[in-house]
Amino acid sequence: MGRLVVEGKQRIEGCLQVQGAKNLVLPILCACLLVDGAVRIDNCPEISDVEETVRMLRMMGANVVREKTAITCDTGGARAEFLPDEMTKSNRMSILLMGAMLTRFGKGEIAYPGGCRIGKRPIDLHEEIFRRFGAELSAEDDRMVGVLAKGKGCGVHLPFPSVGATENAILCACLAEGETQITGAAREPEVEGLCDFLNACGAQIHGQGTSVIHICGVKQLHGTEYEISGDRIVAGTYLTAAAITGGECEIAGIFPGHLSGYLDALAQLGCGMHLRKHSIYLKAPERLQADMHWKTEPYPGLPTDLQPMLAAACTLAKGNARIEERIFEERFDAVRMMQRFGAAVEIVPPFIQIKGQKSLHGAEVVGRDLRGTAGLLVLALAAEGKSTIFGASVLKRGYENIVGDLRELGCGDITEQPE
Ligand code: EPZ
Repeated sequence: MGRLVVEGKQRIEGCLQVQGAKNLVLPILCACLLVDGAVRIDNCPEISDVEETVRMLRMMGANVVREKTAITCDTGGARAEFLPDEMTKSNRMSILLMGAMLTRFGKGEIAYPGGCRIGKRPIDLHEEIFRRFGAELSAEDDRMVGVLAKGKGCGVHLPFPSVGATENAILCACLAEGETQITGAAREPEVEGLCDFLNACGAQIHGQGTSVIHICGVKQLHGTEYEISGDRIVAGTYLTAAAITGGECEIAGIFPGHLSGYLDALAQLGCGMHLRKHSIYLKAPERLQADMHWKTEPYPGLPTDLQPMLAAACTLAKGNARIEERIFEERFDAVRMMQRFGAAVEIVPPFIQIKGQKSLHGAEVVGRDLRGTAGLLVLALAAEGKSTIFGASVLKRGYENIVGDLRELGCGDITEQPE
């Protein structure tokens, strides 16, 4: 999938079972390094971020077998291998693998993960956590080198509820000596899911889903089977596609509570919804209303990963909307690109000001980051006329089959072409 040619004025109509959550599979794969025995993970999406993380585990000697959406992982034969820079620089999971390597092997080395289009993505909180557990870190040729004899339980306070830093603290605490209390922890469903997985392996974690997580270190973790819950960001993407195209859809395999902050925004835009235990039904109004101010926040607030989709919806809504991006200081690429469709968008970081238009024309746009490109695709479905999205291959990082899914939801006029 190099570029997508998208016919405009399509309408979402249908039902879809959503894929498993990318941001839950990834930390669970890293956590497999701590487990003594085989782990089977079901409902793993076939996406490149997962394949890259599997590749890093295999490089360390883990035995990882994928059968469609089930991954079996046994890290019994793993050892602290040198992971090449080109692998660890581009994949944020390397910093979580670092936490797992320090805990499992007592040492680890990775290239400093780089920033990306949405922000600098510093890792100062991660480094602080490694040191809190007793690790000694050094920087050698732009690589982080760490040694940790045996983690000691401690108190960890996060000044910001960083998802990754919370996950690293959990990985360091599970097998540490003594007890750990994490305050200011991230409350995201993916953090909760990681803790549930580790507890299924014999960990003793309490408080997940709240900002205070308590962990009693254990001697060993055993294998287990675990099913990944639905991907709330993918679900939110398709719900927005229905909202912006005046359509209706039912997304199954998702807990509505995992999207609470975003469902509020869709309701404010004028969408009607029925929430069931494992599905969300949405029916869009003729035209969305967006005289609103929103801000992205840590869970359970409005998720930053759906900011581009919300912005796309606002560009065609009635009214003036403002979205404040409070998580990633540079997450404005996609919304800036929406101006090519004729969208009335003004960006004064961290604010996005949007004056809704009755219609927008198709455009040629370039996707640069995963969620931004999905936002451009959602907008292209509703614009008048044909659009081309270059750089669409980035979608494969997080969407198993977005073109197939949209086709299943009634938007079949999307053609994949080589770049
Ligand atoms: C996770 O990234 C997700 N990725 C992101 O999804 C998501 O946008 C983000 O959480 C926020 O919800 C995965 O789970 C793999 P953070 P993460 O640490 O853990 C600052 C997607 O498209 N920060 O919560 O990297 C950071 O700069 C991706 O699926 C520090 O300052 O996010 C940012 O401003 C995109 N120092 C804020 O915290 C640190 O040491 C939130 O980052 C770490 C983070």
